[in-house]
Amino acid sequence: MIRRIVKYGEPVLETPAQPVKEFGPELETLVADMFESMYANKGVGLAAPQVGVSRRVAIVDVSAGEDPEKPFVLVNPEIVHKSGSQRGEEGCLSIPGFREEVTRAAHVRIKAQNVKGEWFEMEGTELVARAILHERDHLDGILFLQHLSPLKRELIKRKIKKLIKAGEWE
Ligand code: NI
Repeated sequence: MIRRIVKYGEPVLETPAQPVKEFGPELETLVADMFESMYANKGVGLAAPQVGVSRRVAIVDVSAGEDPEKPFVLVNPEIVHKSGSQRGEEGCLSIPGFREEVTRAAHVRIKAQNVKGEWFEMEGTELVARAILHERDHLDGILFLQHLSPLKRELIKRKIKKLIKAGEWE
């Protein structure tokens, strides 16, 4: 089922999400719905708070559904190590219409649980590293706006406030 994507301004996006403790059908449904919702919006990553669920679950598919090898699920993910630096354009399904250059680590190693609760480790570089770090931030209530200069951030917030007032931010 496609769920509504929560937009910037709704508190759940800026609230640290709760750890997942129960692994079962409810989590499987959430993850399946998240994939459906992400693909429907042509995203490359999605975190549970973006569908209004304050749980530490994120999904990534840098192929946006083109390559069945690419999708992965991260439950309760933690960063083990990160290194290097990359700069590139980033967007967020919860902040549609705004894309900005963001500096992130170039390489990341994480540990996480899968939908069954089994722990695994994985590494990512380039776009995968960027997506993992962006989604991991969401679970702490952090949006990519927080990686921008205060000036740029305020400018975007002001534009969004105008869109909200005009009823164009749903
Ligand atoms: Ni995002």
